[in-house]
Amino acid sequence: MTTVTTAKAAGAVGTAHTRVEGRDKVTGAARYAADIPFAELAHGWLVLSTVAQGRIRSLQTESVLAMPGVLSVLHHHNAPHVETDYIGALGVPPDPTLALFQHDRVPYLGWPVALVVAETPEQAREAAEALVVHYDQEPHDIAFAADRPDAYAADGIMPGVVRKGDLEAELAASAAVVDTEYSTPEEHHSMMEPHAATARWEDGRLDLVDSNQGATWIAGELAHLFSLDPAAVRVRSDHVGGGFGSKGVRAHQVAAAMAATVLQRPVRVVMTRRQMFSLAGYRSPTAQRVRLGADADGRLRALEHRSLSLTSRVFEFVEPSTSAARVMYDAAAHHTANEVVRLDVPTPTFMRAPGEAPGSFALESAIDELAEKCGLDPIELRVRNEPEQGPVSGEPFTDRDLLDCFRVGARRFGWADRDPRPGRRREGRWLLGTGTAAASFPSRALPSSATLTAEADGSFTVRIAASDVGTGARTALTLIAADALQVPADRVRVHIGDSDFGPASIAGGSMGTRSWAWAIMAAARELRERLALSAALPPEGITVRSNTAEAVGSLAPTEAHSYGAQFAEVAVDTSTGEVRVRRMLGIFSAGRIVNPLTARSQLVGGMVWGVSMALHEEAVRDRATGGLYGPDLAGYHVATHADVPHIEADWIEGIDETDDPVGIKGIGEIGIVGAAAAVANAVWHATGVRHRSLPIRPDRIL
Ligand code: MOS
Repeated sequence: MTTVTTAKAAGAVGTAHTRVEGRDKVTGAARYAADIPFAELAHGWLVLSTVAQGRIRSLQTESVLAMPGVLSVLHHHNAPHVETDYIGALGVPPDPTLALFQHDRVPYLGWPVALVVAETPEQAREAAEALVVHYDQEPHDIAFAADRPDAYAADGIMPGVVRKGDLEAELAASAAVVDTEYSTPEEHHSMMEPHAATARWEDGRLDLVDSNQGATWIAGELAHLFSLDPAAVRVRSDHVGGGFGSKGVRAHQVAAAMAATVLQRPVRVVMTRRQMFSLAGYRSPTAQRVRLGADADGRLRALEHRSLSLTSRVFEFVEPSTSAARVMYDAAAHHTANEVVRLDVPTPTFMRAPGEAPGSFALESAIDELAEKCGLDPIELRVRNEPEQGPVSGEPFTDRDLLDCFRVGARRFGWADRDPRPGRRREGRWLLGTGTAAASFPSRALPSSATLTAEADGSFTVRIAASDVGTGARTALTLIAADALQVPADRVRVHIGDSDFGPASIAGGSMGTRSWAWAIMAAARELRERLALSAALPPEGITVRSNTAEAVGSLAPTEAHSYGAQFAEVAVDTSTGEVRVRRMLGIFSAGRIVNPLTARSQLVGGMVWGVSMALHEEAVRDRATGGLYGPDLAGYHVATHADVPHIEADWIEGIDETDDPVGIKGIGEIGIVGAAAAVANAVWHATGVRHRSLPIRPDRIL
C-alpha cells in the first residue's frame, strides 16, 4: 500500500507542453490504424462505380476469384444485410452509402460496388482493378448552379430559414446597399492519413482498429448497421492523422466488418487517396447571395444571406453557410436561408467549420464592400454594428470579445497606417493590400464520461473515449487532469480512443476538449474527495467514473461562441495573376487556452487552410462523366509551404468562470473562419477589384 498526498495545484493548464506522444510520433513508435499488424490479416480493396447513374448489370467475378491470393468478392448478390433504419448519434439516419452492396442501383460515380479480398494488398488491388463490371447507364445531372429551379430550403443541423422584419422595406430605406453574389467550390478534407480500418471477430465481439473522430460513435453506428448488441462492438482509434469532419462512419469500416464476418479472419480496408475523393465526404460548393442595407453612418437596416449548396440523391446534407450571419450582425430586417439541390454526386459532409468557412467568405466580403460604399473603415463599420444580443435568438452573448480582438489585432497588424483607397501601394511588379474579416464559431458541449484511477504507485490514469486527430487532445487532457487532480502533469497518464471507455464527445464541432474536460473535472473532484477520506490506497487503486449526460445542457448556452479578427497582407502581380499572401495575423477569443503550443498550431493551421481556400483549393467535376478531374493531391491543390507566409495567431484570454465551470471554448475551427475573406478583401485593397468566386486563381486576376 502506498500513501498518496496530492500536491498543490500544478498550474499545468496555460503552460506550453510538447505532445505527450510526440516522441512516439517522430520515432515511428506511434502506430496508425493501417500500421498495426494482425495474424492472418486479409486485405480488402473497394471497387467503385465508373458511372454516375444507372444499375449494375453484371459483375464478372469468376476470373477474379481465380487470381492469386484472392479470397472473396463481396457485392450485391452475396453481401451480408446492412440495417439503415435507425437514427444515429448525430440525430439523423445513416447515409445509404453505408449500406454497401445491398442493391444494384448506382446513384453517383465512385459508389462502392464490390470489395475484393485477398491475402495481400497488392493482390487485392490487382484483382479489384481486373474486375469487370457492366452497367446499364442512365443520364446523370451534376450541374451545380445558383439558379437551379429544383433547389429548396432545408434545415440540416440548424433551421433552414430564419426571417425577421420586412427586408424589401428596409433595403428601400437604406442609404447604402450591397447586393452581391459569391461562390465557393467543392473542397476536400485531404487529411494526411487516409481512412483505414481493420475488423475482426474476437471473443464474440466485433473488434475494429480504425482512424476516426470518436470511437464510441463509430462503435454505435456499426452496432446499428450490423444489428449487434452495442456491447458486442469495440472500436479503437489510437493515433489519427487528421479528421476535419471526414472521419466518421464510412464505407471502409462497413466493408472491413462485412468481410471479417464472411471470412472469419481479420480484414483491413484502406481508402486510396483517389477513393477518398468520392468516399470520404467533402465540402459542397456554394452559391451565395448577400444583400446589405445600411444608413449613411453604416448602421445596418437590412441583412439577407442566402446560400445554396448541393447534396446527393441518397442523403440530405445541408452546408449551414448562413450560421455566421445569424450571430455576427443584427438588422431590423434579418433574413437567412440555407438551400440545397440534389444531384448525382457523393454526399458532402462536415468539413472544418462547416457553414462558417464558406459563409464567412461571403458575409465578411460583403461587409467589406459595404464599408467601401459607406466610406468607413471596415473595422469601424463592425464596431457600429456590434449587436447587443443574438440577432436571431434574442439571447445574451456570453463573453463576446470580438471588438477586443479587432482592437488588439489592428494595433499589432499596423492597421492605423492603412490608406483605405485601393490600388495605392506598389512595390516593383507587386500591388500590395491589406484586408480584415471577423470570425466566430459556436462553443458547444456533448455528454461525455471519464474514468479516473488513483494508482497505488501515486500516479493517475485517465480513460476517456476522446480522439486526438492531431490537435494535441491527449496532451491537453493530461494538463486538464493534472490541474483537476492538483498533481504535476508527469503523474497523469491519459488513455483515449477506445469505445470501451464509454460515451464521449466526438472530436468535432470544436467541442471535444470542452466536453471531455468537463467529464474529467467531474471525476477528478470525486476522486480527490475519496482520496481525502482514505489514508492509504488499496493495491488496485481507487477508481471513479463520471458522466455528464444529465448536466450537459448547462454547458451550451445559445449564444456562446469563440471569436476572432483576421488580418492579411497580400501582394498581387497583375501581369501574371499571382497572389502571394505576405503575412497574416489572427487574434482570437476562446476562453482559457489549455496548451498554448498546440493551440497556436490549431489556429495557425486553420488560417493556413484559409489561405488555401482563398487561393488554391477547388475540385472540379466533369459534366460528361460526373466524376472529378484529377482527384488526387496533384490535381487538387492545397497550400504548400512555399504558399504559406509568416502567420501569427494569438488570443485574448478571459472567461466568466462563475458561469462556466470549464472555461474552455473550442479552437479547432475558428482559425479558418474569415481567413479567406481577409485574403480576398486584401486582394481588393491591392487591386481595386473584388473577387467573389474562390479560389482567386491567376486567370481570375487577369
Ligand atoms: Mo469538424 S467539421 O466538426 O470535424
